[in-house]
Amino acid sequence: MTKTLNTPEVPVSLADLAIYQNPYPFYEKLVAEAPIYRDPVLGLYLATGFEAIKEITEDHHRFSSVPEGHIMAIYSDHPDVLALYKAAGAYPPINTLVTTDPPEHRRYRTLVEKAIGASSSKRLTGFVAKTVEALIDAFVDEGHAEFVAEFANRLPLIVLCNMLGVGPEFKETAHALAASTTRLADGTTITHRQLLENHQIQISGQKILEKYLDKYEAEPADNLTSHLLRATLDNGERLSRREIHSVVQALLVGGNDTTPGALCNCVILLAGDPDLQQALRDDPTRIGAFIEEAMRLESPVQGMYRRANQDTEVAGTSIPAGAPILLRFAAANRDPARFECPSKLDLNRKGIRNHMAFGNGIHYCVGNILARLEVRITLERLLARLADIALDPVGHDIRYVQKLAVRNPEALPLSFRKRA
Ligand code: HEM
Repeated sequence: MTKTLNTPEVPVSLADLAIYQNPYPFYEKLVAEAPIYRDPVLGLYLATGFEAIKEITEDHHRFSSVPEGHIMAIYSDHPDVLALYKAAGAYPPINTLVTTDPPEHRRYRTLVEKAIGASSSKRLTGFVAKTVEALIDAFVDEGHAEFVAEFANRLPLIVLCNMLGVGPEFKETAHALAASTTRLADGTTITHRQLLENHQIQISGQKILEKYLDKYEAEPADNLTSHLLRATLDNGERLSRREIHSVVQALLVGGNDTTPGALCNCVILLAGDPDLQQALRDDPTRIGAFIEEAMRLESPVQGMYRRANQDTEVAGTSIPAGAPILLRFAAANRDPARFECPSKLDLNRKGIRNHMAFGNGIHYCVGNILARLEVRITLERLLARLADIALDPVGHDIRYVQKLAVRNPEALPLSFRKRA
């Protein structure tokens, strides 16, 4: 059975660009009326109900994460794309982590977790704290800031590049590299020319990273690039150079398109609520709970893809074999069957971390500890150093970037007072 929506004032497709500014009425309708819904314009199945997404993300036999067709076009096998890589002596991207199923997924996940685990977390915490202070120093005396450009887009990239042990020339390329990967992955509307241009950016990034791989192959160091080269499975297997390039690309996207949204969404919630600012300033131990609720209410990763491996049924709706499915974590996170008063920020909510903002199942975000660390240190320092954080002007209409997977503010103008 294919469900239809019966409320005319709510858009019927995620292709309706107005939805990206405020997707929640659309999600609310879907969760209530059609937790699995065939989007009539995109031709995708939208999964919005918490239980429906749980079922899909916990069954990789029925539902695959391996991309097919135009979706996640980053792994293009178009002859022109392959020719581009061949001419440059570069490695065409391959599926790793988020775009693989077991047993390949287990292999990547184990090796990447080993590499991340080998890096010193104490050093990382110190570096994040130092970087947060330096970014705030740059605008604190002004009384206002554009938070996306001056902070949110910068912190995750600086931190990830530091973790990777790469220099400034890679940092400059890294943002373009991450943006080009999401552009390719969001490939529903990409032209052939854009496809080639974006792959050219991938090649430029690889060329720089290759130098660091050579360096750390010769002289091991305590950084993620070096640990990725050395991480070994019980059977002695390691990641190849080609695999490392694609893993780094996955980490860059994972870190750069998501954490900025999380940082901004927390600040937006704070900017609208002076009492909440004061409560968290008075008791910073509650910042962790606030972050979880902010992630649940305004999930930076609105959704990810899956594909049905067989004819199947979820929540009473048939899904044919091969059908693409767009999971909407952001909708599940406001499902009233799972969360009491789902639109309310509740710092005392039971099981406050049990939302799906970081996904669910085997693909649960490998960077969640890092992301939570970056957001926590940022909020602690912003609240300690700034008072009266507000949108500038108050009531400013925030515009969101229109992408299928992530929902980030385009800009976030703030005003504040410097605290003594
Ligand atoms: C607030 C920030 C973040 C959010 C909201 C977020 C969200 C997510 C979600 C929803 C998934 C599940 C994808 C799926 O099921 O298909 C995921 C997976 C992943 N994330 Fe994150 N993420 C964040 C930060 C990061 C960071 C900082 C990194 C890297 C340093 C990262 C790297 C990854 C990777 C590599 C995966 C795939 C894991 C796998 O397939 O095993 N993420 N993330």
